[in-house]
Amino acid sequence: MSELVTIKDKQFKPYITQQQLSEAVKKVADAINKDLQKELPVFLVVLNGSFMFAADLLKEVTIPCKISFIKVASYHGTKSSGTVTELIGLSEDISGRSVVIVEDIVDTGVTLEKLVAVLQRKNVKQIKVATALMKPDSYKKEFKVDYCGIKIPNDFVIGYGLDYDGLGRNLKEIYVLA
Ligand code: IMP
Repeated sequence: MSELVTIKDKQFKPYITQQQLSEAVKKVADAINKDLQKELPVFLVVLNGSFMFAADLLKEVTIPCKISFIKVASYHGTKSSGTVTELIGLSEDISGRSVVIVEDIVDTGVTLEKLVAVLQRKNVKQIKVATALMKPDSYKKEFKVDYCGIKIPNDFVIGYGLDYDGLGRNLKEIYVLA
């Protein structure tokens, strides 16, 4: 595995290898292939962070499926409505369908909860969540994360799609703050 990586003011050290990532991807794909084979699921790849995980995962998904790429935008509406969450890029009709949210990392679960709430209003059949990484000690939400590649402690990581201030997404492996 390679050496320290410096991004702006921070140094990161190697943390999760490509081998560990590909084993985790295979484990997640196997479970999805088994659970959803009769569902013709729609994978909703949440950009930007999950592009690398999604590419690897979907090569191992062997069941018929559709794939769509979305972004989650949150903005403050009027005082009474609070924060409004909007999905950008959803072109598929997902009503009545099994949907698999593909995430890079689930930390507190705030992002995931907002996304699930929006999808639930679209009358989907069921919502599953697949994430490359998860920080269970930080996760405080009720919604079940069905497929998790690798659980990590509450450390800040980059690489494999994850960024620090927009940088580091292209790293093949995962690095942690040194
Ligand atoms: P949550 O809403 O707290 O679950 O955070 C989810 C989002 O925060 C992820 O989709 C990432 O964009 C970002 N995030 C959380 N932890 C990390 C990390 O360790 N490195 C890079 N981004 C992170």
